[in-house]
Amino acid sequence: MQLGTLMLPPGAAFAPMAGFTDAPCRHLMADHGAAYTVSEMASAKAITFGDKKSIALLKDKAPHGLYAIQLFGDEPETMARAVALVRQAGVGFDMLDINMGCPAPKITSSGAGSALLRDPPLCGAIVRAVKAAAGDTPVTVKMRLGWDGPAYTAMEVAKQCAGNGAALLAVHGRTREQMYIPPIDPAGIRAVKEAVEIPVLANGDIRTPADACALLAETGCDGVMVGRAALGDPWLFAGIRAALAGEAPPPPPTLAQRMGALRRQVYEMCELKGEWAAMPQARSQAMHYMAGLNGAAALRRACSMLEHFEDVDRLIETVYRLQREG
Ligand SMILES: Cc1cc2nc3c(=O)[nH]c(=O)nc-3n(C[C@H](O)[C@H](O)[C@H](O)COP(=O)(O)O)c2cc1C
Repeated sequence: MQLGTLMLPPGAAFAPMAGFTDAPCRHLMADHGAAYTVSEMASAKAITFGDKKSIALLKDKAPHGLYAIQLFGDEPETMARAVALVRQAGVGFDMLDINMGCPAPKITSSGAGSALLRDPPLCGAIVRAVKAAAGDTPVTVKMRLGWDGPAYTAMEVAKQCAGNGAALLAVHGRTREQMYIPPIDPAGIRAVKEAVEIPVLANGDIRTPADACALLAETGCDGVMVGRAALGDPWLFAGIRAALAGEAPPPPPTLAQRMGALRRQVYEMCELKGEWAAMPQARSQAMHYMAGLNGAAALRRACSMLEHFEDVDRLIETVYRLQREG
């Protein structure tokens, strides 16, 4: 897929997830075949106030593969200024993504995230301002189907975004009101795809390579984006790539590969943020690696008690012991 001068490799993109998609997580997914990865969302307003933590969320010393940063905000001017400040701070990125999907009240109460879906012309104005600040860098938008149903605003939002220079849209097939609960609506995603000429990625509830192929067929989209199911399972990307290319599925990962990935991820998190900041996040990352293993309850408990990096080695020993015991 071509975005301006940028060629996106085949396969699924890795969705942005605040609290999860830090640099170590993104690197892991990119190394396992994600088409591109996206930062956690950062506040444009906080960046214009000089907030270093927001810049740190976006900064990546050694991005692996194509990398998009994601900003949220509701003022075109502030969003554009944030882009310039991010550049000045030396953050490198290949694409610039605008969050029009976050349902969290602390984001929507300020008019940002999915609250933007109630005002399609404002969505267009934000894309126009960000595009002017971004220059040749492709601007993308991550959105939901609307604020609530049954009439979706996503088609109008998509037209506004495309008309003002967005290069790609990723559409999570739920409204803000639905949060994460009911099944996604592939017909809603298809309606967005049919409303615009630019590439559209379908997103939501893809857990297997077969799910990815089915959602592509149902929506007519140009590609897919995967979030939660890839946590603890970066091999999903190779599986989706193979399925989309009509190739045989790659062999499933061994237990040693799974535990090796977990250890590497937590080690890099500790290197990046320090153990104190990294370990609470490492607990939730580690839980995802325990899926399907014997002794799930005991392993989840062990994950919730990770405090130091060496606890990860103890957790991995427990994993092996419980699998041997059957
Ligand atoms: C914990 C969590 C954090 C998320 N943070 C973001 C975010 O920062 N920006 C964004 O656009 N979407 C965010 N999302 C939404 C995901 O990118 C994705 O659209 C959603 O999880 C549906 O895809 P999935 O079923 O493949 O996970 C988040 C989702 C979760 C579960």
